[in-house]
Amino acid sequence: MRIDIITVVPELLNGPFSHSIMKRAQDKGLLSVNIINLREYTTYPRAQVDDYPFGGGAGMVMMIDPLVNAIESLQKSNTYDDIIFLTPDGETYNQKMANALSLKNNLLLICGHYKGIDQRFRDHFVTKEISIGDYVLSGGELAAAVLTDSIGRLIPGVLNDESSALSDSFQDNLLAPPVYTRPEIYRDWKVPEVLLSGNHKLIDEWRTNQSLERTKIRRPDLLD
Ligand code: ADE
Repeated sequence: MRIDIITVVPELLNGPFSHSIMKRAQDKGLLSVNIINLREYTTYPRAQVDDYPFGGGAGMVMMIDPLVNAIESLQKSNTYDDIIFLTPDGETYNQKMANALSLKNNLLLICGHYKGIDQRFRDHFVTKEISIGDYVLSGGELAAAVLTDSIGRLIPGVLNDESSALSDSFQDNLLAPPVYTRPEIYRDWKVPEVLLSGNHKLIDEWRTNQSLERTKIRRPDLLD
């Protein structure tokens, strides 16, 4: 799978994909993440990519032409399944969307900055608009990193234990059950007996019950 990310601050995306699971996914050739600097596609002086909003108002607006130049140049060698704009007014992201996106081959993510991007670009090029939550970030980069990480880990072969993505929180609309590891007793806090029993049927039942209980208490909306 290939994920291309267009940004005006490429430095913000240096870290998230260079370590741990995302690095391993790329080393294994299962995921390719390409960071594209929008300023390389502008024809304006001083690498300008934004301008004042027509009609006035606070903040700058990202111009349409550098974005279109970038996309059309990338499209010469790529066909994108989706062109996704990260924006607080997009559809709120969840695990179901991550699952669906992980089945695609080629995604292009657009990180907004300033007050937003020219609406004509949204109307004519963007195929999905996604928000990672009801709060406003300084730009779309952290949101793009969230999407890429959550999608990338679902690609078969990326996680060592194939079943471990399936037992994540939200995969059955349930939160994950609690987990424990050594030592068996710490201070006077013991690991639940059932987990030491070796009885996998009982352990599975316990985990399902714990998941249900946790979901009922913390996220009853998921059970509706
Ligand atoms: N850009 C700024 N805030 C954002 C959010 N909450 N989700 C996605 N992109 C954003």
